[in-house]
Amino acid sequence: MAKLVINNESKKSHIAPEIYGHFSEHLGRCIYEGLYVGENSDIPNVNGMRIDVVEALKEMKIPVLRWPGGCFADEYHWMDGIGPKEKRKRIINTHWGGVVEDNSFGTHEFFELTKQLGCKTYVNANLGSGTVREMSEWVEYMTFKGVSPMADLRTQNGHEEPWTVDYIGVGNENWGCGGNMRPTHYADEYRRYQTYVRNYAGNAPIQKICCGPNVDDYHWTKNVLETCFDHTPEHMHGFMDGLSLHYYTLPETEGDWNFKGSATDFTEETFYQTLKRSFFMEELINNHGAIMNQYDPNKQIGLMVDEWGIWTDVEPGTNPGFLYQQNTMRDALVAGMNLNIFNKHSDRVKMACIAQLINVLQSVMLTDGEKMIKTPTYYVFKMYRHHQDADLLSSELVGNGTVGAGKNELPKLFESVSEDKDGVITITLTNNSLEADETVDVSLTLDGGKYNVCEAQVVSGKMADHNTFEAPEVVKEQDFTAYKKTDNGISIDVPKCSVVMLRLKK
Ligand code: AHR
Repeated sequence: MAKLVINNESKKSHIAPEIYGHFSEHLGRCIYEGLYVGENSDIPNVNGMRIDVVEALKEMKIPVLRWPGGCFADEYHWMDGIGPKEKRKRIINTHWGGVVEDNSFGTHEFFELTKQLGCKTYVNANLGSGTVREMSEWVEYMTFKGVSPMADLRTQNGHEEPWTVDYIGVGNENWGCGGNMRPTHYADEYRRYQTYVRNYAGNAPIQKICCGPNVDDYHWTKNVLETCFDHTPEHMHGFMDGLSLHYYTLPETEGDWNFKGSATDFTEETFYQTLKRSFFMEELINNHGAIMNQYDPNKQIGLMVDEWGIWTDVEPGTNPGFLYQQNTMRDALVAGMNLNIFNKHSDRVKMACIAQLINVLQSVMLTDGEKMIKTPTYYVFKMYRHHQDADLLSSELVGNGTVGAGKNELPKLFESVSEDKDGVITITLTNNSLEADETVDVSLTLDGGKYNVCEAQVVSGKMADHNTFEAPEVVKEQDFTAYKKTDNGISIDVPKCSVVMLRLKK
């Protein structure tokens, strides 16, 4: 038996809704088919956007969507994707499968999608192969209201009103596919490009995101921040609002992108190895956060983990450049653990975007023509939606065991706890064990006995359980009833290989 002690007398940090963010790239069947089918499709759509997908994402409460890449972003020229569709440039998607990109989904379509979803917008601009002028004109096109060449062009293309850009990424992975730059060079470029991200009168400031490190590249973090803030700390305000971090969990051979392992066929050892590697996220946040503290002790710059998740081999028989993979209970645990990590570090982590939204990597949905299924990861995001905009409470697991052996050893249970503006407390817990359920005695430091469970759900199953188009509901959220009230809180029986969510109300 483990104890979970929740201190509900003091709030630690605010959980930005954007921690539950998503990423959509022009890659494989993410944008085309997954989100956008075009107005003339037989698949039910509104202005080209799939109704089934949009509805499911709204239920899951998607807070922000990043677009158009990824690596694609640093080769994307936004003017290719505006104007009459039949006149738009057909280009080669060099990064992802070498297929033809017809640019039928562009700026107007992105804002139509985010309007339907009711979520914030995160546009990733091109620093690697684009110009400052191109980026600055894109910002003008999207956000300027009044008379200007770009606002006029937008009006000619059928949208007089400007849109809201909440976040702009100034390049993506510029240490790699975004130009193979060295940190000091990129940082100087960042200083220059961000200057021309104009905040036009009447608009809320666009939050600027600087390209941060790959995994544990602390040299990048240090040198980018040093170059950006050297001699000019007084100009910090509005100069950088976020620094990105990318970390993917490769289940099999560490660092070997040719042997990542199957999404559905893996051993128990690989299961624990995957979870352990994913747990590395916490160390990364601590270490990059410590470097950020030297330059930004008041934590005004968010660490934006805008690409994370499991990256496995593609499903057999599918285009290797499309990164289409299945999603199992292992993915559910990876999602649950990482979201708990982000909540616990919400003083520094202000956004996270799992990669990617649909049909690519660790997706929340998969489609096959007109069919759509929700993955185990979808249900975790849906259960965890109650943490969005809540305040983190400090919590401690006492008597928590470990699972996995040797280098794969990690905590058996992993939790986070928050309180929303109505005083409702949300607890989310993963049981990472494949062998044993665990009874958890939850106690609250204040009024524990006065709380009752008002909602409880669980996602559980065997480690490789997953949904298919033939059997779409093998894994899904279920009502959870294995709890009872105690003098100081509640006692919960957390099933093995599960993610549990409970809400407590006085
Ligand atoms: O998400 C797939 C790719 O992974 C992205 O395009 C890139 O940013 C990262 O390397």
